[in-house]
Amino acid sequence: MLSSIPHGSENSLLVGYGGADDAAVYQIDEGRAIVCTVDFITPPVDDPFWFGQIGAANALSDIYAMGGKPLFALNLVMFPMKKLGKEVLKEILRGAAEKVREAGAVLGGGHSVDDEEPKFGLSVTGIVGVDDILRNGGALPGDRLILTKPLGTGVLFNGVKSGRLTYGEVEKLLPHVAMLNDRALPILRSHRVRALTDVTGFGIGGHILEVAKESRVSMKLYHGQLPLHPHVLSLYQMGETTGSNGPNRKNLEGFIQVRSSISAAKEEILFDPQTSGGLLGAVPAEEAEKAVDDLRKGGYEGSAIVGEVVEKEEYSLIVE
Ligand code: CO
Ligand code: CO
Repeated sequence: MLSSIPHGSENSLLVGYGGADDAAVYQIDEGRAIVCTVDFITPPVDDPFWFGQIGAANALSDIYAMGGKPLFALNLVMFPMKKLGKEVLKEILRGAAEKVREAGAVLGGGHSVDDEEPKFGLSVTGIVGVDDILRNGGALPGDRLILTKPLGTGVLFNGVKSGRLTYGEVEKLLPHVAMLNDRALPILRSHRVRALTDVTGFGIGGHILEVAKESRVSMKLYHGQLPLHPHVLSLYQMGETTGSNGPNRKNLEGFIQVRSSISAAKEEILFDPQTSGGLLGAVPAEEAEKAVDDLRKGGYEGSAIVGEVVEKEEYSLIVE
């Protein structure tokens, strides 16, 4: 949408909204650039402490997805103070502060407005070496695609809201959702990752498409190897979905070819919006197994090789 709006042509802006990437990158001296992102979400769960942690981890993720290190963050708060009260907001901010600290960054302030439905997130500023920037472009035919977290948070959160799943079942998974992508970045880097993004609102299908387009290649996605949180497939089989599945599917129309033997419920996983999802990287084939091994040992137990990069063909994403 932004591409039609004039946005100047500043040479220092190395990554802007000319393409589809995770954050803006601005060069400040010969070797270094700052990385800047902003992200906020509605509460995935009712617990305000988890909301704060997940909202913060979700925003910090874009810095890692560019290969950067977060330096400081500002709180973005939209909150119905009269309805929910100060204590709830304090818990949200406490959760966020914990994540920011865990990321080795500091909180520098923030801004709040009264809003009927609470929303929370961060604006994060980070730093990256100019030669260390990891974009969505750069994946080469033969590379393997690695995903570092299981999929399905969208339908899980909706499952709790609709009563198909108890909160207790989802609560067990929240530490994985709130987990930072910080340690996954150096592991992927040590295995020569060439293109990197994080999987968020557009789902695995939408984010793979961005990497495919920016890298001018096509992608083969091995559906059977997609890591899933528990209950995800059964929820889709029961007819549960999210408000984003439809738009995410539409976004891929004309770009995606799905092998006919994949059931409709399984297909939905491609469009499931992720909150604080994993990193998705393209690494050379010979590094892929070792990378997944290291990621699993490093605490990213859901990591998996989910596809491979092929020469550009008619469809950008071929799901097998
Ligand atoms: Co992102
Ligand atoms: Co983002």
